[in-house]
Amino acid sequence: MGQEQKVLWSGRFSQGAAEETLAFTSSLAVDRRLARYDILGSLAHARMLARQGIIAEEDGESIAAGLKQLYAQAEEGTLPIDPKLEDIHSNIEFLLTSMIKDAGARLHTGRSRNDQVATDLRMWQRDAILETIDAIYGLEHALMERASDTVDVIMPGFTHVQHAQPISLAHHLMAHFQRLTRDAERFADCYRRTNISPLGSAALAGTTYNIDRLYTAELLSFDAPCANSLDGVSDRDFVAEHLFAASLCAVHLSSLCEELVYWSSPEFGFAEMDDAYSTGSSIMPQKKNPDVAELTRGRAGASIGDLVNMLCTLKALPLSYNRDLQEDKAALFAAHDRTVSCLRLAAAMVATVRFDSERMLAATRDGFLNATDLADYLVTKGLPFRKAHEVVGAAVRHCIEHGKRLEELTLDELRSFSELIGEDVFAVLPVERCVLRRMSVGGTSPNVIPMQFSQGMSALRRQSEMVQKEKGRLGRAYQQLLE
Ligand code: ARG
Repeated sequence: MGQEQKVLWSGRFSQGAAEETLAFTSSLAVDRRLARYDILGSLAHARMLARQGIIAEEDGESIAAGLKQLYAQAEEGTLPIDPKLEDIHSNIEFLLTSMIKDAGARLHTGRSRNDQVATDLRMWQRDAILETIDAIYGLEHALMERASDTVDVIMPGFTHVQHAQPISLAHHLMAHFQRLTRDAERFADCYRRTNISPLGSAALAGTTYNIDRLYTAELLSFDAPCANSLDGVSDRDFVAEHLFAASLCAVHLSSLCEELVYWSSPEFGFAEMDDAYSTGSSIMPQKKNPDVAELTRGRAGASIGDLVNMLCTLKALPLSYNRDLQEDKAALFAAHDRTVSCLRLAAAMVATVRFDSERMLAATRDGFLNATDLADYLVTKGLPFRKAHEVVGAAVRHCIEHGKRLEELTLDELRSFSELIGEDVFAVLPVERCVLRRMSVGGTSPNVIPMQFSQGMSALRRQSEMVQKEKGRLGRAYQQLLE
């Protein structure tokens, strides 16, 4: 068969499109990843057409048999894809029609590539979201494991990258955990809006055939058919939402990796990356660089770029389908692959990084991390906080001038700043005590950190239940179509 006969829309044209037009418009390099979803979607559509009497029972059967064969080939990676056909949908329809002739040519009744591609992409994205939540789970799990061993490790807490107050390392790690939990929730929320079927919207206006959209939605395990066919073929909100969730997750990973990078510098010396996640220098033999963390930090920009790319594609599109929408897939696929690989590597880095608890503790000695505690002490003696703040500020200035720490001042020196200070002040100044006393809900005290562990465990349980449940539902639906 010649190229002209192979394109799906050759009838209206007196001559074929220019080679460069075909190359320019082709989406095959990107959308071949949709093959399995395209076939499953077609299986559902064909089953519905036959059930509604729109195509003959026998045609429905040969379409299903042909598609199942193609599905097996797609799963093996042996689908004979013709790069000259503009997209994966054309390829599959062409292969089917070559196999079963006219019956195959009946598959596209009451359907368009516009609703077809939107359906495929939503199906792809459901799996992508489940894979992402699973990858987030891996990193959350690694963070929680490390946190459970480091509740008593004390380090400086920072604001403005300046020493602020002493905290538990576990508390710091669990802050990253919280961000990731929200990421997982965002993806799960996006899943709900992804899980709507555009199939049956046809080109844009619906169709004259008596199709059953509820039935195809159910066969493909979608929650419902979309309510408006124009919206069905043009809505890519779900892609933009996914890209936002991926971008914010990338920002969180970048922030975590930034810390791993500078914590591994000799100036900090808080952490040493495992050799498995470090690389060396071609010229400096002594070097061990945290490249995996740096690349994770660096790649966040690309995901943000993918989000902006998608939003720009959408911003001025009139209803309904426009070919610009084809650009959604490259951005979405790239961002997804990047998100999952960054998450998996971050989990491995967190699981294996060595923390130097002595260096961390030593770093808490300088920088007056206990200054707030001294002010709080004065408040317990009756001084209003704002006045206590000023008193301690003066004491800190005195310490800086004399090269001393607050806890190294004598009682007399301390009393020169406030008569309210007594011998008992020395019990509140050690950083261990400062950490221990911060028992407010969500605080850093080892007495309350376990609350974060139990909440975190419930979040992990919810995530894994959601992933298992949905994977099961999708798996069963697809299995039924393939039986
Ligand atoms: N390849 C297209 C896309 O990804 C789907 C085909 C729709 N083409 C068309 N001419 N309406 O959006």
